[in-house]
Amino acid sequence: MNDALFGIPYMDIYLVMGILVFFILLEIATGYWHRTQRTKGDWIQEMGGGFVLMLVLKPLIVLGAIFLFHSFFPSIQDSLGETSLWLSLLVFLLVDDFLQYWYHRSAHEYPFLWKLHRPHHQAEEMGFFVSYRNAFLYYVMMPNLWWLGIFTFLGGAKAMAIGLVLKQVIIISSHSTVQYDKFLYRYKFLQPLAVLWEHIFITPAFHHAHHGKSRRDGISDPNGNFGNMFSIWDQLFGTATFNREFPSEYGLDNDPKEHWTAAYLFPFIKSKDPNSELSKAHQKTKTTSAEPSSVHLEKGEKYLWCQCGMSKTQPFCDGSHHGTKFKPILFEAQRTGNARLCNCKLTKAGPFCDDSHVGV
Ligand code: FES
Repeated sequence: MNDALFGIPYMDIYLVMGILVFFILLEIATGYWHRTQRTKGDWIQEMGGGFVLMLVLKPLIVLGAIFLFHSFFPSIQDSLGETSLWLSLLVFLLVDDFLQYWYHRSAHEYPFLWKLHRPHHQAEEMGFFVSYRNAFLYYVMMPNLWWLGIFTFLGGAKAMAIGLVLKQVIIISSHSTVQYDKFLYRYKFLQPLAVLWEHIFITPAFHHAHHGKSRRDGISDPNGNFGNMFSIWDQLFGTATFNREFPSEYGLDNDPKEHWTAAYLFPFIKSKDPNSELSKAHQKTKTTSAEPSSVHLEKGEKYLWCQCGMSKTQPFCDGSHHGTKFKPILFEAQRTGNARLCNCKLTKAGPFCDDSHVGV
């Protein structure tokens, strides 16, 4: 089988580069240079990380996977050779995206992986290059990159090349500031298409909500919307939030902004800032207590109540839950005045104290 797309060698690479250039031009045309406040460290992480991924890591991992499979499972080489291109493409994309959903979700729920993925969420503005902003080791361990090599070994190189191009269109556009999906939401006659599209593919609104700073804005859900190409996994596993609006703030609460070397090369290089999660000294500890807090709430204000029990600003969330399976509870005060908020985190009436702490 000729694995080159349209019979042109490296056509998939040209297409991915073409998509990148297309989005660069679109972002520039829509006022990128006036808007951006990216620092030098941001540029190094995003562009440098992107090029290392594309030119070094991805080829090495793909070759490594082919070598390993060739050494240990030679009998299954080219076993997809007779499968139709479209079936191969579907299998490639579904397996790829399923793997990436769980890897990405794990990176939000387990502390070590979170530290590798955290640079991706430190970005305080969106843009397609944000897609490439993770620690070096995050990519080395990414199952999808290994899947590229395995699928090639199985004889699916052409389907993989098409799949990669399609996937890049969705991933790059979902990180982009261009927000094409606003067009779909604007007109009533486009609603059926908008509903169908967002329930299959990741849209900019869906993914921007994942990058929003906190649930406090009622739009963001940094601990949900984990999908990369398809939104079906988030819907299946209960992590989807569709709201079609865009956060006003991106990034992380309490971000000490460590040097890019620590962000990109953790755990080989650690941050010197003891407040950084990437430092040797940093530890998350329980800050729960068996006494509720009496706090003043303002009617109509939104608050985030800490559920993980590690916030340094109890009873409210300070972002310490990142890297755990917990997420804060968003609530709106119904009246102005003092309220007893739970600090033991055993309440069944969160965020309010229900006296579960008595006897603890
Ligand atoms: S710090 Fe956010 S839930 Fe505890």
